[in-house]
Amino acid sequence: MNAPAEVIHDHVLAMDRMYRWQRHIYDASRRFYLLGRNEMLRGLDAKPRQSILEIGCGTGRNLALAAKLYPVTDLFGIDISNEMLKTAKANLGTADVKYRVHLAQGDATNFDAQSSFQKQSFDRIYFSYTLSMVPEWQKAIDHALTMLGDHGELHIVDFGQCENWPVPFKRLMFRWLKLFEVNPRQDLPIVLQGFAQKHNLKLDFSRSFSGYVWQAVLR
Ligand SMILES: C[S@@+](CC[C@H](N)C(=O)[O-])C[C@H]1O[C@@H](n2cnc3c(N)ncnc32)[C@H](O)[C@@H]1O
Repeated sequence: MNAPAEVIHDHVLAMDRMYRWQRHIYDASRRFYLLGRNEMLRGLDAKPRQSILEIGCGTGRNLALAAKLYPVTDLFGIDISNEMLKTAKANLGTADVKYRVHLAQGDATNFDAQSSFQKQSFDRIYFSYTLSMVPEWQKAIDHALTMLGDHGELHIVDFGQCENWPVPFKRLMFRWLKLFEVNPRQDLPIVLQGFAQKHNLKLDFSRSFSGYVWQAVLR
């Protein structure tokens, strides 16, 4: 069952409020703590003529790097925040990439790739620090898996539980993340295991920086 339209609308407003000003300093500030994004992008290992979709593409920073790493691919990005998309359009509007990058506004749990991009499936789909901000994050994964092409891969990088940190530091970190409406998903490994079984996929799950970053691939 989809969330009521007014709930999604409230989330659009919340994200636009959050990013209206932050988007101008987002890339400069986040490079210090959204760790593991470049490694995740390199791990996509997309082949020429394959398609790559980022769900929650923010400023387009990841898509710009993916465009460099995978020069003969088509890139797609959706985000719920129109404010973030303004920056993404500016960042990805340069002559060398704009013809193969496609952006659209949508909610991770229910966007329609066919009407947004005239495309039903993708070879690589990824969430980068997005699931920790999507209220119905399990539904977002479920929806992403419906768009995965044959031999496709779903990649995830996000905040972990800082499981090997001293408890006071972990508490401080979670309090700070809350200020940005970020909720690291404790159940992520279990939920992904369930999806792997349901769809007959292989799950690779890893942790780095003592649990600060969690990474997963369903293939
Ligand atoms: C922390 S930012 C990460 C941006 C980018 N992926 C990165 O790694 O720099 C989270 C992004 O997810 C978007 N987002 C949050 N909830 C969403 C939803 N339900 N559907 C689509 N995008 C969403 C936000 O607007 C924001 O751009």
